[in-house]
Amino acid sequence: MIFETHAHYDDEAFDEDRDELIPKLLQEGIGTIVNVGASIASTKTTIALAEKYPKVYAAAGVHPSDVEELDEDGYLWLKEQAAHAKVIAIGEIGLDYYWVKEKEERKRQRYWFARQMELAKECALPVIIHSRDAAEDTLKVMKEVHAKDLTGVIHCYGYSAELAEAFLDMGYYIGIGGVVTFKNARKLKETVEKIPLERILLETDAPYMAPEPYRGKRNDSGKLIFVAEKIAELKGITSEEVETVTWRNAQALFQL
Ligand code: NI
Repeated sequence: MIFETHAHYDDEAFDEDRDELIPKLLQEGIGTIVNVGASIASTKTTIALAEKYPKVYAAAGVHPSDVEELDEDGYLWLKEQAAHAKVIAIGEIGLDYYWVKEKEERKRQRYWFARQMELAKECALPVIIHSRDAAEDTLKVMKEVHAKDLTGVIHCYGYSAELAEAFLDMGYYIGIGGVVTFKNARKLKETVEKIPLERILLETDAPYMAPEPYRGKRNDSGKLIFVAEKIAELKGITSEEVETVTWRNAQALFQL
């Protein structure tokens, strides 16, 4: 069984077949799905999905690219959602400097990243962290908010094996998805070789990041077998072992 720790089935890419696809995936080897909110609107649609399907859980949070929509009312609204029985994490939150060069905007991202980390602490929930082109500031904010006191996953991990150690030292997991199957993903393959399997989670980021041989197509949790196979190959073990251990990891993290 595969534990899908990061998908966006509320995305419009699934409007045509969502209600056929999700039950099919849950019948065909995907045991649990964490659907991840990325804004106020998608946190709402994420929770609605979790209410509909017993094996779909929700993460509530606002992605760094959307934090301009946050204010104190939005924050309180998120806090209310965090108390929902199917909400098992705060996310995705973090920093994304890839598109944002402007100082003030980056500062706003750091502010709401820190606030949502504090929210997770207050609600005793793990966090799902998105971090792109912002490794140094991500670690800095995490240290400032004593991220060691909570736990979580660095989703769609894209930094070096050395930096992964810093996140592991704080007690965090590393989310591995389709990118690891790409031919040019040398750095990520090296990271997977070096970090313990006990700290890896399987994730798609569906509809994005489809693994080979589906690169560029719409992704879904069924394609995680290709990710598990690649991790198994890199570690010299079986993909069953990858599925079993990452399942246990996700259960431990999300307390399911
Ligand atoms: Ni995502």
